[in-house]
Amino acid sequence: MHIDIITIFPEFFTSPLDCSIVARAQQSGVVDVVIHNLRDYTNDKHQVVDDYPYGGGAGMVMKPEPLVRAVDNLLSQAPADTPVVLLTPQGQRLDQAKAQEMSGQQHLILICGHYEGIDERVRQTVVTEELSIGDYVLTGGEPAALVIIDAVIRLLPGALGNPGSVHSESFADGLLEHPQYTRPAEWRGMKIPDILLSGHHENIRRWRRKQTLRRTLERRPDLLKSAKLTEEDNKLLTEIKEAAQPEVVAGQENTDE
Ligand SMILES: C[S@@+](CC[C@H](N)C(=O)[O-])C[C@H]1O[C@@H](n2cnc3c(N)ncnc32)[C@H](O)[C@@H]1O
Repeated sequence: MHIDIITIFPEFFTSPLDCSIVARAQQSGVVDVVIHNLRDYTNDKHQVVDDYPYGGGAGMVMKPEPLVRAVDNLLSQAPADTPVVLLTPQGQRLDQAKAQEMSGQQHLILICGHYEGIDERVRQTVVTEELSIGDYVLTGGEPAALVIIDAVIRLLPGALGNPGSVHSESFADGLLEHPQYTRPAEWRGMKIPDILLSGHHENIRRWRRKQTLRRTLERRPDLLKSAKLTEEDNKLLTEIKEAAQPEVVAGQENTDE
């Protein structure tokens, strides 16, 4: 996959793209992330990318010419159906399904806004999608771009050391993941659930599934409405509701079985 990011702060991306899974994915050729300085697409001496808003009001607005010049240039070297994604709090909210969909693209172009945002005509001319990372306002699109490419890159084949984790994680099947434990088996008086030491794979699978359903029911019941639940899931949910046991009491997980 190739990802182009248009920004007025290229340095923002240096450290985040240089560590962990995202760095490894670039080194191994899973993804190619290229940062483009919007100022390189200006024609004036001072490389101006913003101007006052028509009609008055606070702040500045990003000018259309450099942005569209940048996008046109990148599109001329990209497949015809390349999405041009504007980061904006007014866009579709990013979720795992959207990240999954984007991970199937060959090429992405992301536009980071700043100030009061971009001239509306850029949106009308070259933008094909608008994405938000949540209902709050950032100073610029750069943190949003990083969130999006992180969520997308880890879904690319070859990006994760253990690709299996992608399938069992929160939101992979529309539910939240079960709790995780590592060594030591007892810490600060808290023991891990016995079942995890049993070595009985089927019982462990069932326990984890029940915890997944319990967590989702307690924290995000809205997710259960759209999740594809099996007969076993429904049975486990009935058990959870009937038992109606609290999830964590003073740091001790309820282990059910
Ligand atoms: C201060 S914001 C502009 C907000 C704009 N005036 C509005 O009210 O919708 C500056 C830039 O940050 C980015 N941004 C801010 N919040 C965002 C969010 N929740 N998701 C994605 N991008 C965001 C966008 O690129 C935006 O153009």
